[in-house]
Amino acid sequence: MGYINMEFKPKTIGVLTSGGDAPGMNAALRAVTRAAISNDIKVKAIYRGYKGLIDGEVKPFTTQDVSGIIQRGGTIIKSARCPEFTTKEGRQQAYETIQCEEIDALIVIGGDGSFTGGRLFAQEYNIPVVGIPGTIDNDLWGTDATIGYDTALNTIMHCVDTLRDTATSHERVFLVEVMGRDAGFLTLNAAIAAGAEAAIIPERATIIEQIEEAIGQGKRKSKNSSIVLVQEHAIEGGAQAVAKMMEETHPEFSTRVTILGHLQRGGSPSASDRILASRMGIAAVQALIEDQRNIMVGLQDDEIVYVPLSKAIKQKKDINADKWAAMQILSI
Ligand code: F6P
Repeated sequence: MGYINMEFKPKTIGVLTSGGDAPGMNAALRAVTRAAISNDIKVKAIYRGYKGLIDGEVKPFTTQDVSGIIQRGGTIIKSARCPEFTTKEGRQQAYETIQCEEIDALIVIGGDGSFTGGRLFAQEYNIPVVGIPGTIDNDLWGTDATIGYDTALNTIMHCVDTLRDTATSHERVFLVEVMGRDAGFLTLNAAIAAGAEAAIIPERATIIEQIEEAIGQGKRKSKNSSIVLVQEHAIEGGAQAVAKMMEETHPEFSTRVTILGHLQRGGSPSASDRILASRMGIAAVQALIEDQRNIMVGLQDDEIVYVPLSKAIKQKKDINADKWAAMQILSI
């Protein structure tokens, strides 16, 4: 990134958080607000994502409005999934708010669904849109990490550490269901970090024999407890379905299911997420000042990059082959 070019500076930036909340969204909102104000650009916060854009729930933000929020999980401007924004009528109403509030550029903090809507809106109404990736799933192409992913990973790891006490005391198999929508990043990385015996993820087919091998029927017969992380959509029915299979094939195992659910989305953001969100918030404002549009801010090899929104949404990020191999090696 170079120095800020003041030539194309927008007067007022609208900012919203959309889709599933993620720890660090507040830190991103703070950074957007302060970076804009320090460049003499006004900021208007739009409440409840695209819903607030349609309904005109907009509030001018000052630096004080974002004081004391860097450490807070969730999003102080609320989030929502908004089916109305997928319709032409909904987007037309949203544009009326943009005009009425004199917003001339939009920053969207969210995931792929939010970016899909933002991209369409940008094309239809010729409004510059910059995306900041905020999702625990880490499923966006073009960035090594999304805001919230690191915190969620740590939350899952701590939960699994806690479960291991009971797993070993009772000599049980714990099947732990992890979020991620269509992606297995959280599941695989949490499995490595927590020393789980197996990870079941959508990107790699796992057969029951592999799980058997991992939980003690294979190389190391001495294992008397096991933890298997199951990505929520890797198998229809999730961890409950795997438990049913296990009970049928191995009634000798004492199996329990834990669904971590929305516990994974909350909590104070990690240092890494706060720093990522702060850098990305500043970079999003800088992109608008440079007259960039329809792009997502990303991080590659610890450098800020700009990626076309179309690529971020459409291209598939694969899991790291070394990590998948590490999982197999370390679970014996
Ligand atoms: O995209 C974030 C996420 O938490 C996914 O991991 C999960 O599949 C989904 O959102 C759950 O969405 P909701 O909170 O709307 O049930």
